[in-house]
Amino acid sequence: MSVIGTGYLGATHAACMAELGHEVIGVDVDDNKINQLTGGEVPFYEPGLPEILRRNLDDARLRFTADYADAAAFAHVHFLGVGTPQERGSYAADLTYVNAVIDTLVPLLEGDHLIVGKSTVPVGTAQALQERADALAGPDTNVEIAWNPEFLRESHGVEDTIHPDRIVIGLRDGSRAEGVLREVYASQIAEDIPFLVMDLATSELVKASANAFLATKISFINAVAEVCEAAGADVTKLADAIGYDERIGRKFLGAGLGFGGGCLPKDIRAFMARAGELGADQALTFLREVDAINMRQRERLVLMAKEFLGGSVMGRRITVLGAAFKANSDDVRDSPALSVAGQLNLAGADVSVFDPQAMGNARKVFPTLTYADTLDEALTGADLVILATEWRQFRDMDPRHVGELVAQRRIIDGRNVLDVDAWQAEGWTIGALGRSL
Ligand code: UDX
Repeated sequence: MSVIGTGYLGATHAACMAELGHEVIGVDVDDNKINQLTGGEVPFYEPGLPEILRRNLDDARLRFTADYADAAAFAHVHFLGVGTPQERGSYAADLTYVNAVIDTLVPLLEGDHLIVGKSTVPVGTAQALQERADALAGPDTNVEIAWNPEFLRESHGVEDTIHPDRIVIGLRDGSRAEGVLREVYASQIAEDIPFLVMDLATSELVKASANAFLATKISFINAVAEVCEAAGADVTKLADAIGYDERIGRKFLGAGLGFGGGCLPKDIRAFMARAGELGADQALTFLREVDAINMRQRERLVLMAKEFLGGSVMGRRITVLGAAFKANSDDVRDSPALSVAGQLNLAGADVSVFDPQAMGNARKVFPTLTYADTLDEALTGADLVILATEWRQFRDMDPRHVGELVAQRRIIDGRNVLDVDAWQAEGWTIGALGRSL
């Protein structure tokens, strides 16, 4: 098989499919990425992936190329894992890269081929791609488009690919691709992982609605957090208590700075845009509120920082712990942590940022911030510390040790992960979203 696009999704899928015993060729237009992957180096931080990549390169089940013709000749099943970012100036998804794969690959194919989309796309895309492929395929070539949405979380990519919660397959009427996909996922099916076959449109909507639900859950608890603060209540205790109800569940009720990353923010917007195109825009207006609640958490944290420092952050030394959009990732796309650091910087604060993995990516997006080499260096002389990404290294900080480094013992826990009593016992003033401490 081939896997086209070797970003977080594609590189992980390619290596994991090889790990399951398939012969895989990964394709990307970026020569740098191809060279790095060929050399056994993962161009981003994903725990566990480098080991799997190297093992399968060594065993010759996996290789990478920038040449589509190589993939067209080598494989009959082609996974499509390129990005679908937010379109400039609109909420819609930009399908340039997805379309480009079809336009480049299909004219090179001979015989029967299956293209299996994994990218998150607006409903109706798979059918449109089928028409696009039909128009490009040669007379003796038959290309079918199927959809197999990907639910992997960055930082859990390997586990989520090899042992997913479920496998969702979208097929067109009269498709014969189910058998091929059952072969591809034979080991997962043998583990009794649900294998759900449906029409193309439903499979596309499964992904959009799963992400919309997760985003809604986070914004729900963050909205309640605002009420908790106003009422002098504690959102973390509230989340524990409602989370015991199995219908609700405690996961994704972590109140704080909210969601970011390359998926949830753009996917809920693309979902709204597509619903509008279909004439069902009213159905998803609540997602506007989900988005607004989420973005408001960043402003609320900046306001809290100003209050902590007596009304202005001008010239004050603020340490922001975290740049990645979540822990165990180097991804800074739409990162709440960097957004807060950037806003404080623009308000005149002297901001020092530290992240265990995302410093290189953060520097590219926000070159004007100060990036410390170590956690201790970042903390030294701070008037205020803000925990913005839930890395274990930050959660496990010793309040006494940190207290000796900073100028003022003031910390805002933007992720509600610190042991409040332990920090207060060391003389710290601690603030948090959704709690009156
Ligand atoms: C998400 C989906 O989980 C995944 O199924 C889909 O395939 C892609 O989008 P990912 O972007 O890797 O995955 O991140 P995820 O772990 O879901 O976290 C998203 C964001 O929500 C992070 O910024 C995280 O910090 C935040 N979050 C998560 C909260 O603010 N509170 C929570 O309780 C959980």
